[in-house]
Amino acid sequence: MSRTESFAGEALQVVRGTRSGVAIAVAIHSTARGPAIGGCRIKPYPSWRDGVDDALRLSAAMTTKCALAGLPYGGGKTVAALPAEGLDPARRPDLIADIAEAIAALGGRYRTGPDIGSTSQDMADIHRLAHGWAFCRPEEQGGSGTSSAATARGVLAALRAGVAPRSVAGLRVGVLGFGSVGRLICESLLEQGADVVVTDVDSGLRPVAEQLGATWTEADLVREPLDVLVPAATGGLLTVESAAGCGASLIVGPANNQLVAEEVAMVLRDRGITWIPDVVASAGGIIHAVGREALGMDEAAANAKIDAIADTTAAVLSLARERGLTTVRAARELAPPA
Ligand code: PHE
Repeated sequence: MSRTESFAGEALQVVRGTRSGVAIAVAIHSTARGPAIGGCRIKPYPSWRDGVDDALRLSAAMTTKCALAGLPYGGGKTVAALPAEGLDPARRPDLIADIAEAIAALGGRYRTGPDIGSTSQDMADIHRLAHGWAFCRPEEQGGSGTSSAATARGVLAALRAGVAPRSVAGLRVGVLGFGSVGRLICESLLEQGADVVVTDVDSGLRPVAEQLGATWTEADLVREPLDVLVPAATGGLLTVESAAGCGASLIVGPANNQLVAEEVAMVLRDRGITWIPDVVASAGGIIHAVGREALGMDEAAANAKIDAIADTTAAVLSLARERGLTTVRAARELAPPA
C-alpha cells in the first residue's frame, strides 16, 4: 500500500557532526506559538534514520505538550543517534560541541533542554556555545537545574487526577523504570501509602528500590494486575499486542511517546484502560524550566503551574469520556490552536 505522507513539521536539520562523526537531527515541528523547544536525546539507534524518526515524532509531541501547558513555545527535539556500541566517553565534548553548533545554526528558532542521555552540565556547555539556547543548566551556573523533580511532581498531579475520587493510599502501582524520575515517583507514592512494584533493565538498582520499601519484580509489569502502571523508561512501551494484554486500569507516566502508534490508544480505550497521554503527564519538567528561566516565575508559581496538570488531566479525561474519544485525541482538541 503506498500513500503519500506529507511532512507535518516546519524544518528538519540533519548533520554529521564534524568533530564526533555522529548524526545529529534537530526537528522543528512548530514555531507558531514561539521558538520550538524540546530536549536533547543522546542514545544508540540501530540506524541514524531511526534517530531522525524519533526526533520527528518527539518534536510533534512537544508542540502539543507546550500548547496544553499554555507555554509560549512550539515543539522541537534534538536526537544524537549514536552507533550501537555507544560513544567513547573521551569523545563526548566533541559531540556536545557538534550539537551546540547544530542548534546555533538554527538562529534561535529552537531551544534545547535535557532528555535521555543528556545532563544539566551538557546544557551548560550548549548554553555557552550556542547563544544561551539551552534550558536547565545547573543552578550554581544560573539555570533551573535538572528537571527530574518537576517532571515527577507533574506525573503525580496527573496520577492523582486519574485515580480521583480515590486516593493513592492502598493502590497497587507498578513503576517501570527506576531512573531519576521513576525513583522520585516511587518515593512519593510510598510516602502516600501506595503498594509499589518496580522494575528496571538495570537490576543493579534493586537494592535501592527495596530500601525505599518498594517490591522489585522481574515480571513484565505491563501484564501485571495493577491499579496504576507508570511508564518511566524510554518510549514505545505500548504496542497493540502489549495493550491487549495490559493488566492495569490506569496508565500515567513521564516517558515520552509511550504508544508506538496512535491506534494503540483505541485498544486501550476499548479495553476500558485509562491512559493519561504523555504530553499531559510529562510536562512538569518543561513547565518548571520555562517558568523559572524565561517567564520570571518563582518556585511557588512554577509548582502551582505544574500542579495544574491535575486540572488539565481531569479536562482531558472528561472530554474523552463525553465524546468517546481516545485521550490523546481529547488532549489535542483541548490544546489551544497555535
Ligand atoms: N525532556 C524534556 C521534555 O520532554 C525536555 C525539556 C525539559 C526541554 C526542560 C526543556 C526544558 O519535556
